[in-house]
Amino acid sequence: MNENGKIGDSSKKIKVWDWPTRLFHWLLVLVVSGAWISSFRESWLMEHVWFGHAVIGLLVFRIVWGWIGNGFARFREFVTGPQIVWEYAKLRLSNEAPRVLGHNPLAAWMMVALLLVLLGITLTGAVTLAGEEWIGPLTQYFSLSEGRFAKSIHVWLSYALLSLITLHILAAVIDSVSHRENLIKAMISGFKRDTLENNDDAKNLVPNNKVQSWFLSGFVLAAFALTVGISLDYKSPVTQAALTEARLSRASPEHQLYMSECGSCHFGFHPSLLPHRSWVKMMSSLENHFGEDAWLDPETTAEITVYLGKNDAEHFQSEASFNLLVNVPEDEIPMRITEMTYFRSKHEDISQNTFMRKSVRSVLNCGACHAYAEFGSFEDAHIRIPE
Ligand code: HEC
Ligand code: HEC
Repeated sequence: MNENGKIGDSSKKIKVWDWPTRLFHWLLVLVVSGAWISSFRESWLMEHVWFGHAVIGLLVFRIVWGWIGNGFARFREFVTGPQIVWEYAKLRLSNEAPRVLGHNPLAAWMMVALLLVLLGITLTGAVTLAGEEWIGPLTQYFSLSEGRFAKSIHVWLSYALLSLITLHILAAVIDSVSHRENLIKAMISGFKRDTLENNDDAKNLVPNNKVQSWFLSGFVLAAFALTVGISLDYKSPVTQAALTEARLSRASPEHQLYMSECGSCHFGFHPSLLPHRSWVKMMSSLENHFGEDAWLDPETTAEITVYLGKNDAEHFQSEASFNLLVNVPEDEIPMRITEMTYFRSKHEDISQNTFMRKSVRSVLNCGACHAYAEFGSFEDAHIRIPE
């Protein structure tokens, strides 16, 4: 290892970070900040998804670049075994760590950790989006509960990421001070101070392969274009319709029976909107159903009761079912979703005229404004009040 802090000819510079690596670094800063900020509001979900895609694009690039890229950017040039990391960490604690041109052994593992955590965040994000919000190409494959589970991991990994980023910035600042070299500037210009202690090995790593750089820049742009394309497509009615179709074709026969029997006079309300006791009471008095006769033969009644029991508010937990029931006392048996406090609070700002529109007709027509109401999703991203 080299001597600490030895300053050679301070006017001489050495290229350490090639431009694809620098571009990756600063785009990642931008895009992760965007993802973080857009997570503050639920209505920014689609922007959040966009940033998530951009992160995936950048990760793919960086992983490929880590194999075929220029010297200092290659994983095998900087990721070292535990022995070296340990030695370096000890030197560092005693403030004797040498200056390293590329990533130092600890920083190398920070890079790996950052990449892995980001990968985990984007993957769990995609599963959350599919399971919970029913958006995106994975929509058909994940259930609500899988989506919710993925979301909890997504959130914890995000905290882990914030801690790692804080550590990373702290370390960069500490190194900058102790080696009297602005590392942040180096990540912008690509150059570091060339000193006598830089051995020949290091010099061999200096990026020089123009062809690779150009090839990869094309790759970055293509990845970006692709991710933008995908996330814009999520919003298109065609994609939405295709996803709904996919979901519908998976709908169980019990669901179809329910929708045809209980969705004939009004919209088929999702079972999760009422608790078990409400459905039991309603199913046992169908001949007097809100002043109508909704009688069904005992066999169908039994089948629908089973379906309701499997998907009621106690079993199919969603944000909506939780919020609807949270204020209802145990001994009360609510019969109308539309009279529950949460429902009212969410719809009181919508004018009567809106509900009277031909495209809506009634507040009971949940599906007019909630694209996936039939499947129990009332997420903000899917609300669209029709003209
Ligand atoms: C013959 C027509 C008809 C059939 C069939 C029918 N309903 Fe209804 N349902 C009504 C009417 C009418 C109302 C009251 C609507 C209103 O207040 O405007 C109602 C209201 C409801 C409500 C309360 C909605 C609210 O205000 O929150 C629920 C829940 C409900 N029905 C469930 C069912 C279920 C479950 C089935 C199938 C077993 C079913 N309905 C079948 C006519 C019907
Ligand atoms: C005219 C359009 C319209 C109709 C019809 C409608 N809603 Fe809504 N609903 C909205 C809007 C808009 C919001 C968002 C309100 C807000 O966030 O302030 C909303 C919010 C909700 C929420 C809360 C979503 C959340 O973020 O947790 C639930 C649950 C809900 N609606 C259920 C229903 C059900 C059930 C029906 C049918 C009985 C229904 N809605 C009918 C427009 C409608």
